[in-house]
Amino acid sequence: MATLLIFFVLMNLDLLLRTGHCTETRDQILSITPKTQEQVDILKNVSTQYETALWQPVSPHYIKEETQVHLFVPANSSETVKELLQRHAVAHEVLLANANELIEMQTRNDSTDPRSSATFYERYHSLEDIYYWINRTAHDNPSTVKVILVGSSYEKRPLYALKLSFNDRPNKKAMWTDCGIHAREWISPAFCLWFVHYSLSFYKQNQDITDILDNMDVYVLPVMNPDGYKYTWTSNRMWRKNRSISKTTSCIGADLNRNFDANWCTEGASHNPCTEIYCGAFPESEPESQAVADFLRRHKDTVQLYLSIHSYSQMLLFPYSCSLEEAENHSDLLEMAEEAAQKIRRYYRNIYRYGAGAKTIYLAPGGSDDWAYNLGIKYSFTFELQDRGRYGFLLPPSHISGACNEALIAVKTIALKVIEKTQVPTGPPPTV
Ligand code: ARG
Ligand code: ZN
Repeated sequence: MATLLIFFVLMNLDLLLRTGHCTETRDQILSITPKTQEQVDILKNVSTQYETALWQPVSPHYIKEETQVHLFVPANSSETVKELLQRHAVAHEVLLANANELIEMQTRNDSTDPRSSATFYERYHSLEDIYYWINRTAHDNPSTVKVILVGSSYEKRPLYALKLSFNDRPNKKAMWTDCGIHAREWISPAFCLWFVHYSLSFYKQNQDITDILDNMDVYVLPVMNPDGYKYTWTSNRMWRKNRSISKTTSCIGADLNRNFDANWCTEGASHNPCTEIYCGAFPESEPESQAVADFLRRHKDTVQLYLSIHSYSQMLLFPYSCSLEEAENHSDLLEMAEEAAQKIRRYYRNIYRYGAGAKTIYLAPGGSDDWAYNLGIKYSFTFELQDRGRYGFLLPPSHISGACNEALIAVKTIALKVIEKTQVPTGPPPTV
């Protein structure tokens, strides 16, 4: 009898705790798979009417039956949201119960923490630190690295790209990589730093990177959306867009990856400045996308490979995302993505999906990859890096090396293929 009583008390205690009669103090990520159209509608409503941030899919418009939704729920709306879900019997799983701790952990020790054994490249860095790193990297490698100012952001921050050039052969080709189009995808700038560091450290040590750098200049723009990135460090970790002010509403920011001139603002983007996929007032209305487009227009005869780094869903995408049409060299692109994904599988035991954007995820017009492709850069890819399923945008620093190494092997595979397909093979430059 006594045991039964204790059991009963414990049951209720558990229920009390679970139903949150004590106020939830932590931000959470919920995973919810709606089973019916009614549940779909409730989720759409929750993600638009309450203070939450939709992580997956990118817009409530894409919420559908039997597909997983990831929703960031801040502590102060946790009770209301969970109560609403329970009332409508929408089952949910807590993916991450301690989002604030993770955020705190990722922004702490930006400068060297003696307790942490992680290197500079295994941590996330503030915008200021990245600017500092850009200058120091150029300064420390005066013969191979140059800083190029490609433009400035809406809030007038500089857009710096690094140019890595190990020789100046006549007619030398190039590749371009941008990171951080979307502010909250922190693994993306971390990858750009990783890639530059790897290139500088392993030239003449690793055959693949040596072949790439012997045959191509490499442009790297570590943070394409500095205003948004800064904002994720100071105010809202979940921010995606840039920080431009719209003329018609009080909502801020345009989605830079919907602002390029590739079937601009057709299905998959929105004219509403209050959405996450707002396409801007007109193509290249945003200074960040215009700066990158201008640079690529000026260098379109040398740049053969365009890469844009995002997260999270572990995919290697290529044009088109702005229409269901097949790119003219679809089979080449498919073969390259397939080979890159195979390497990731073989060396890192991780599965990356690959394919044309529109057919692999969704129609998403106005993207930089499609625009670059139409400009004539026939090898154009968007990488979606890790998370592997639990952390979403809050990928812990301890996962940076794994995520970057597998992306690096994909970059190397694709860059080497581009060289093989387009250039007369050459060895290292003659030594004089
Ligand atoms: N998740 C990325 C986005 O929504 C996908 C980018 C794929 N390419 C594209 N042009 N939409 O921006
Ligand atoms: Zn993105």
